[in-house]
Order: sequence, then structure tokens, then C-alpha cells
Amino acid sequence: MEVLFKRTHLCGMLRKEDIGKTVILNGWVQKRRNLGSLIFCDMRDKTGIVQIVFNDSVTSECFALADSLRSEFVIGVKGIVARRESVNEDLPTGYVEVIAKDLTLYSQADTPPIYVKDDDRVSEDLRLKYRYLDLRKPSMQRNLTLRHKLCKIARDYFDSEGFTEVETPILIKPTPEGARDYLVPSRVNQGKFYALPQSPQMFKQLLMLAGTDRYMQIARCFRDEDLRADRQPEFTQIDLEMSFVDQDDVIEIQERFLQRVFKELLDEEIDLPLPRLTWKEAMERFGSDKPDLRFGYELKDLASRVADSGFKVFTDVLASGGRVMGIKIDGGSETFSRKDIDRMTDSIKTFGAGGLVWMRIAETDIHSSVSKFFQPDELQSISEAFQAEAGDLILIVSGKESVVFDSLGFLRRDLAGKMGLLDDNEYKLLWVVDFPLLEYSEEDARYVAKHHPFTSPKTEDIPLMDTDPGKVMANAYDIVLNGVELGGGSIRIHDRELQQKMFRVLKLTEEEIRTKFGYFLDAFHYGTPPHGGLAYGLDRMAMLLCKEKSIREVIAFPKNQNAVCAMSDAPTTATEEQLKELAITVIEE
Ligand code: AMO
Repeated sequence: MEVLFKRTHLCGMLRKEDIGKTVILNGWVQKRRNLGSLIFCDMRDKTGIVQIVFNDSVTSECFALADSLRSEFVIGVKGIVARRESVNEDLPTGYVEVIAKDLTLYSQADTPPIYVKDDDRVSEDLRLKYRYLDLRKPSMQRNLTLRHKLCKIARDYFDSEGFTEVETPILIKPTPEGARDYLVPSRVNQGKFYALPQSPQMFKQLLMLAGTDRYMQIARCFRDEDLRADRQPEFTQIDLEMSFVDQDDVIEIQERFLQRVFKELLDEEIDLPLPRLTWKEAMERFGSDKPDLRFGYELKDLASRVADSGFKVFTDVLASGGRVMGIKIDGGSETFSRKDIDRMTDSIKTFGAGGLVWMRIAETDIHSSVSKFFQPDELQSISEAFQAEAGDLILIVSGKESVVFDSLGFLRRDLAGKMGLLDDNEYKLLWVVDFPLLEYSEEDARYVAKHHPFTSPKTEDIPLMDTDPGKVMANAYDIVLNGVELGGGSIRIHDRELQQKMFRVLKLTEEEIRTKFGYFLDAFHYGTPPHGGLAYGLDRMAMLLCKEKSIREVIAFPKNQNAVCAMSDAPTTATEEQLKELAITVIEE
């Protein structure tokens, strides 16, 4: 009969101080080596690896069992911690080993399709297919643990600030956050569908109307949108809402939360208050509403320096209201070849840029792709705008403002990476405030909400909603960390008339307003406190704190790039009976 060896210690926690102690460990076999009279076994649990030695102090039965061990067998070991002869500096447990006295085998394992090793180069698809093996890696367990601690800090901190965690429903009517909804058919109400929440936005606002005063939730959200390294179809927010607050109140309470997170999880001191940039300044200086402040490469407006040049591309763009802007890459002239610049040009074409103008600053002169259109003093003037020095590379983009911002914003971060300026151990947090309320969607031929339709306009801009909607600024703010939008929020509209006006600006018909948002607007009849809040992307926050490049590294069972769970193969087809019950017919393409 199998005996359970009751664990006394964790493998990865054994240190010099434990020498001489009798310990019982449970875990997996990382690898086993038989040296004739000795068998070495690396044993792993979620905390790490320790070396076990089987010698003639165990019975021949036990020695034979040890010899049968293979990778990923699950075992229990009783033994004594001893000083290790050949120290392994790379392992935290590298000073010790455990001299086994007894061994039990809980289960055998087939040869695993992926090795359980941190530095193993396995394709992500395979890692996701065998996620339960992938998660055995101590680095993945560390990520899950850090994420857990982050949730715990959030719950403790907001609890201490008077927030109540309230669960909001998952089967709901759509909440507009700008993505496509996941729909769930109702069997009881045939032909009708629930939407999965893109966020708990309307419910948390209704909780403010309900008098909850301060709400928080670690909330699952679902958005059917194109996936990227920092986007998943289902993800988690630390979602917050407060009554009787203005923007400064929300920011102040969040800053102390962030300070605590960095202190407790990384022992990093964050100075408060955090810097704030207006959206306009962020775009003008960094070409992005989520600027990475770990390096410079700021955008410069070159209009006044190129307006009289003979380069028609620039002068035409300026005449039609466009922009000519550039960035300087310090020492970039050596690093980036002609070919590299061709590649950069191709990459910014995806943002609609027509081309990329370059200038290489040499000791005595300036080489440029557009030398023949410029007088030497004009090139000099551009170089002076950047205070460029020999060896620097200047890159210039012209065109519609949004194209120039997107292109240079992209190049700025991409090239900083290539120049080795993105230090994972540096944390640059900032608030971006004063976003536009609306942005024009060419596709929909109407204005859409930049944040969501419940965000309040700046009071002084309300009259512009009728005359010049694109100019209306919002009481909205994003928190940005190292070029990643960590969270976003706003002060909400709490006036029924204004909310209705907002829907109208978004070109919703009275009928649509009624059917989509009637229940919400009705609630506003009965006393609405001023309120505002914010939601953090928990996965993104955990990703950056774990120094990972993708949120999939901090989600236990993420979807792949095609929104498929590679392990279980979800989504799958439904059975005939299920479809019949739901009165749904699937049309094969
Ligand atoms: P927003 O849509 O900006 O705001 O979302 C808040 C934060 O959630 C994260 N996030 C995502 N993370 C992973 N995968 C995704 N697909 C994804 N989409 C968003 C981001 C983002 O900053 N209800 C509002 C918040 C509010 O106004 O209070 C909202 O959801 O980190």
C-alpha cells in the first residue's frame, strides 16, 4: 500500500542552516544520474530544485527503486541535509544535498513532450498544449505566486481604504468598451443572448447609485478583439469605483496603492506624486498616449525649419495641415545600416507613412536621403533643433498628424530596444490626463467614445459637444508604466441629461438609447452621487512586475494567438441537441 511521506520542508528552501536536519520532501524528479555506487537525483517542487543522494545507507530495495526513477516521476524522500562537496553556485540550494534514507514512488511518468526546464527553448504552442508541465517550472510558479500576492495587496489595501469587494454578473447586456462582445445564447429565452462583460463598468456605476460608496473587484472581462502580447480575450481587472470624488482624489488613492505594490513585491521605492502629462503633451513629445519614459528620443516639430526648403514632400504636407517631425537616435548612425533603415521604413508604412527621411551626422558634414533638396544650412538647422552630435541619426516622418505620431512613437520605442535602453529593472510610472472625449471613426463615419460613453466631458467644453465634438476634452486618465497602459479611468457623467446628450453625440437613435441603456438612465432619476474610478489590467501589471514580455506568462491557462486554448482545444462545436435546445442553426461556410 502506498504510504504518504508527510512533507516537512520544500525542496527549493533548503539552505546551509538546515545541515544535519532530518527532512521529508515531496516532488518531481528533474533528472537522475547513476554513478554505480551512488545515485544522484534532482528533485523539484514549486520552490525549486535540490539534490538527493542515494548511497549504501539505504536498503538495496530502496536503491533499486531510486535507480528506476525517470524524469517527472513523483516521489517522496526522507533524508538528512548534508553539506555538498561540489557547491553549485547557480542553485539557491547549491550548498546542500539530502542524503536519502527512504524513498517512495507516488506515480510514474511517460517521457514528457516538453522538458520542465526554465531555459528550455520550446515553441509556445507546445508549452500551451502541455501547460500543466510548463507550469511545473519554478519560474512559472513564481509568476503565479507574484500574481497572487498582487491580488492580496490589492484586496488588503483597498479594504483598508474603505472599499467593498462586490461581484458583478457575468451574463449581462452588453457594456460598451469598444470591442466585440462574446455572446452566450439563452436556452430559457430562445433567440436571446447574454453578452459577457467587457468590463463591469455599468454595474460598478450602479453600485455607486446604490450607495456602496467605494467598490473594488478582481473582475474577469471578456473582449473579442485582435490578440497581442498584452491582450487576451479573457483577462482580469482590478476594478475600482468611488463616490464623491474628483480626479485628484482617485489619483491620490491609486498612487499610494502603486507605491505599496512596488515596495512589497519588488522592494522598489516609488516617489509620489507621480509625473502627469496631458494627452496632448504626451503625443507631441513621445508620439504616444502611453509613453515609455525610460529613455529620451523626444519628437521635435521641424515645420519652421523645413517650410522654405525645396523638398516638396514636406512643403506639401505642411500646406495641407500635416506635420513634419523627427527623432534623434544618439549614436544611431553607426548602429543602423541602410538596410535597417529600409526595414524601419517598411514598418512605419503600416501606420500609413509615405516614407522615412534620414540624416546621419558626421564630424564635418551631414549625409541625408534628401541632401539634394536641402541647402547645407537647412540640414544644419534641423541638426541644431536636436542638438545633434557626430554619430547621431535623425529620422523624420511627414504626413497627417496621427500618422506622424504613430510612426515616430513606434520607432522611438523599437529603436530604444535595439539600442539596449529598455531596462527591465527601471520603472517609470506616469499619469496621462486630459484625453479627448471623442475620436472620429472613419469606418463608422461618426464620433466614438475615446474611453467609454460614461466618461464626463470637462465642464467648460460641454457646449462644444454640439458644435465641435472633436475638441471636447474629458476627465479621463490612464496610468502608464514603461510604455504599457496599465490602467485607465475617468470621472463619470452623473447627470441624466448629459448622459443622454453623450449618447446622441455618438449617433445613437432614441430607440437605441432606450433599448440599450434605458435601465441605466432610469436609475439616474433617483439620486446619483458624483463618482469616478479606474481599472487596472491585472495581467499587464503582473507581467511587468514579473519582467515578462507577454501576459500569457502570468496567466495559468491563456489562449493562443487564435483565441484557442491549445490544451483543451476550446472553442469546440456544440452537439445537435444543444443547438436544438438553443434554437440555433449553424451555417457551414
Ligand atoms: P479599459 O478598457 O481602459 O477601461 O481597460 C482597463 C485596463 O484593462 C486592461 N485591458 C486588457 N488587458 C488584457 N487584455 C485585454 N484584452 C485588455 N483590454 C484592456 C488594460 C486597460 O488599461 N471600465 C473601464 C475602466 C474605468 O473607466 O474605470 C475599462 O475597462 O490594462
